[in-house]
Amino acid sequence: MSIPPTQSTWLQVAKGKPEEVLKFSTDAPVPKAGKGEVLVKISHAALNPVGSKMMPMLPSFMRKLPAVPESDLSGTVVDASDSTRFKNGDLVFGIIPAELGFKTGRGTICQYAVLKDEHLVLKPSVLSFEQAAGISLAGATAHQALTQKGELKAGERVFINGGGSSVGRFAIQIAKALGAYVVVSCSSSSRQACLALGADETVDYTTSPLESQLSNSYSLASSLGFNLIFDTIGSQPLYLSSANYLLPNRKYVVIGVESPKGLVSTGKLLSDFGMNLLRPTWLNGTPREWVFFLTDVKTSYLEDLARWAAEGKFTCSVDSVHEWDQEGVFAAYARLATNKAQGKVVIRIGA
Ligand SMILES: NC(=O)c1ccc[n+]([C@@H]2O[C@H](COP(=O)([O-])OP(=O)(O)OC[C@H]3O[C@@H](n4cnc5c(N)ncnc54)[C@H](OP(=O)(O)O)[C@@H]3O)[C@@H](O)[C@H]2O)c1
Repeated sequence: MSIPPTQSTWLQVAKGKPEEVLKFSTDAPVPKAGKGEVLVKISHAALNPVGSKMMPMLPSFMRKLPAVPESDLSGTVVDASDSTRFKNGDLVFGIIPAELGFKTGRGTICQYAVLKDEHLVLKPSVLSFEQAAGISLAGATAHQALTQKGELKAGERVFINGGGSSVGRFAIQIAKALGAYVVVSCSSSSRQACLALGADETVDYTTSPLESQLSNSYSLASSLGFNLIFDTIGSQPLYLSSANYLLPNRKYVVIGVESPKGLVSTGKLLSDFGMNLLRPTWLNGTPREWVFFLTDVKTSYLEDLARWAAEGKFTCSVDSVHEWDQEGVFAAYARLATNKAQGKVVIRIGA
């Protein structure tokens, strides 16, 4: 396949909201793959909340601009001459991790991107390009939360806060693949999807405070408490009451920062983080370990997700697919910003 010298791409040119700072360019150079890297012709890219949350926030010394937005993709390897793992024509999905994107300006809402070998895996044929594009960040996050951070084992009980979120949907399937019993919070909009993905029980977070529902129905006294809580939302009240329903010496693993009004007070956030991490029980600290982490995407996570997909244990819910013209890309970011997407918001770029 011949590789053109230039490509079309979206670029973030300044700090701000997506519709203010994303510009379309038709003459950006096609990057060259270095040692241990491949050039991928992108089929689809997927959005993650972190992409648009960071756009108005990151100062220029932390992020090289202009930068191609987003990190997840599916596509076809078109130059694997310096790769040890892939050959031209391989169909793949993968990720440009945030720290690499921030440093290099690389991203995935473009026609061609260079990725490190270790950040890609072969796409199983059971997954469409649309589905595969949505897996990498949210899937690796769910994997790391349950396995490396949460140490979830077969036969254990896990509560996933935000079962309807993309990370939550992947976590349900991974927890079932690991042999766990899975209870999730969700609204009526995503209840059927959570059950179809394997959740054993659901709790509706919209009817009354979740911490009260769990204290009443899953108390340690009832023997229905959990070996692990994985909180994709970042609910402070759920953590503060967790000794009622999370077994002693087990972890409360969290990745989100709840912002009901779309605004997080940095002071409150930092004080909650400090309290959760440091406050001892004799000063009224919560007697359960609180573990916040930023995803470290390992090849083994992507390989497990691809294998589970091939085995029929894992798939990707797609909320919507948008064209990559201005109307489509801005509509995709608007959909993600509703915080109601039922799975991944995907952008169609190539074939
Ligand atoms: N720390 C990290 O490294 C890392 C990595 C990836 C993602 N994250 C964070 O993880 C969070 C989830 O990301 P995502 O991509 O999975 O989001 P997403 O797919 O956009 O999640 C949207 C869904 O979340 C559910 N939801 C919203 N508020 C809820 C609440 N209060 N309780 C329960 N469910 C609620 C809704 O489902 P219903 O239909 O059930 O209402 C909604 O459809 C984001 O904050 C993201 O920034 C962090």
